[in-house]
Amino acid sequence: MAKPTKTFTCTACGASYNKWSGRCDACGAWNTIQEDTGISAGPPSKSLGARRGSAMTLTDLGTEESPPPRSKSRIEELDRVLGGGLVPASAILVGGDPGIGKSTLLLQAAAQFARNGLSTIYVSGEEASAQVRMRAQRLGLADAPVRLAAETNLRDILTTLDKERPQLAIIDSIQTMWADNVESAPGSVSQVRAASHELTAFAKRTGTSVILVGHVTKDGQIAGPRVVEHMVDTVLYFEGERGHQFRILRAVKNRFGPADEIGVFEMTGRGLAEVGNPSALFLSERGQPSAGSVVFAGIEGTRPVLVEFQALVAPSPHAQARRTVVGWDSGRLAMILAVLEARCGIPFAGLDVYLNVAGGMKVSEPAADLAVAAALLSAREDVALPAETVVFGEISLSGALRPASQTENRLKEAQKLGFTSAIAPAGGKAVGTTGIALNQLGDLTGFVGEIFGA
Ligand code: TYD
Ligand code: MG
Repeated sequence: MAKPTKTFTCTACGASYNKWSGRCDACGAWNTIQEDTGISAGPPSKSLGARRGSAMTLTDLGTEESPPPRSKSRIEELDRVLGGGLVPASAILVGGDPGIGKSTLLLQAAAQFARNGLSTIYVSGEEASAQVRMRAQRLGLADAPVRLAAETNLRDILTTLDKERPQLAIIDSIQTMWADNVESAPGSVSQVRAASHELTAFAKRTGTSVILVGHVTKDGQIAGPRVVEHMVDTVLYFEGERGHQFRILRAVKNRFGPADEIGVFEMTGRGLAEVGNPSALFLSERGQPSAGSVVFAGIEGTRPVLVEFQALVAPSPHAQARRTVVGWDSGRLAMILAVLEARCGIPFAGLDVYLNVAGGMKVSEPAADLAVAAALLSAREDVALPAETVVFGEISLSGALRPASQTENRLKEAQKLGFTSAIAPAGGKAVGTTGIALNQLGDLTGFVGEIFGA
C-alpha cells in the first residue's frame, strides 16, 4: 500500500504544498502553512445506489417545472450583488475583516428575508442567542421571524437544519464550526474545509440556501475564507477602511450573476444603511478643484460609479523615491509612470509619488489608467484639471488610448452629478449623451499636450 502522504495548506490563500515551509510561495505570508489532518475512518461507505452518480441529459432536467424564483431581501444593494436575489440551494461565502460589519449585515439580511416569507435560521458560533437578540433589538429587527441558534458543533447544526429544513441558513462564522470527525482544532484548515463541505453539500441536497461567514485572518492560526472559495457558488467580500463609514460588498465570484458587482452601505448607529447613489457619496468630500485631483468615471459591475483619484508628487529626500498607492494596483501605477516617461518624456525619477482613491474605495478597472495619468501629471505640473471634468480610458504600453466599455453609461452618470465635460479615448460609442462635452483623444501624448500644454 502506498504510504499516506501529508499535505500542507496556507491558511491565508489556500495554496497547498507537500512539505512545510515558513513562508507561502503563493501569497508571501509567513507562518501560515499548516498540516492538513485527516478525517478519522468512519464506517465504510455503502455502495452507491444505481441512481446516484448516474448520468442524465440536460433535457431530462427541469422541463417539468421551471426553477424556483430567486428570493429577494429587498435590501437592493444586497440583492444586486447576489445577481438579483438569493438562489435556492446555493452556498454563499461572505468574507471580511473582523469588525467590519458582517454579522450586522447578515442579521439585517436574515430579518429582511424572514419578513418576506423565507424561513430563516441564523446560527451564531460567536455570540450567545441573547446577545444576537440584543443586537437585533438595537437594529430594530426584534419583530422579524428569524430563528436563532448558538451552536458550534457541526453535527448538531446539521441535525437541527435537517429537522427544520429552513429556506435560508446563515452560519456565523465558519471558523468557529467544529466537526467531531476531524482531528484538529476549530479554525484549522481541515476543520474549516470539512464544515464548509458538509454545509455546502447540505445546501445542494435539501435546497436550503446557506450563507457562510468567514473572517479574513492575518495570522496563520486560523484558516481564512480563501481556503473555501472554490467550494461555494458565490463569494462576496465585505470591505471598507477603518475610520470611514462606507462599506462595500463586492462579488468576486458568482455562479448565478455577474462578478465585480458592488453594493454600497454606510455603517450608522442603527446598523447598515443602503447607499443608493455611491457617486454622490464618494465625491461628497471633494472641495474646489485642486492640482492632483481627478474624477474618474468608472463602472463597478453593472453600475457606473464616479470616484476621485488624488495624487501627490514631490521631490524625494530618499535615495530611492517612494511609490505609495491606496485603493489601486501598485504594479499598474509603475506601468503608467513608465509609459509617461518613455512615450511622453515626462520623468518621475527622484520624485515621491503618492496615489489615493478618496473615500476608501478600491478600483481595479484598467479604464482608470487615464484618470491616474491625469492625476499624476496634474500633481507634477501643479495645474488643476478644468473643473467639472471626468476622465476615463485604458493606456497601452505604446501610449495609445484604448476605448473603455460602456462609455455612454459613464457619461450619463457624470452628467447626472453635474459634470459638463469628459476626456475619453477615441472610438468609444456615446450616442444619446448630449449636454456633456466629450473630448476624445487617440494617445497619451495628445492628452498631455491638450490638457497641460506640454
Ligand atoms: P460586526 O457586525 O460585529 O462585525 P463582524 O461580524 O464583521 O466582526 O460589527 C462590528 C462593528 O460595527 C462594531 O465595531 C460596531 C459597529 N456597529 C455600528 O457602528 N452600528 C451598529 O448598529 C452595529 C450593530 C455595529
Ligand atoms: Mg461577527
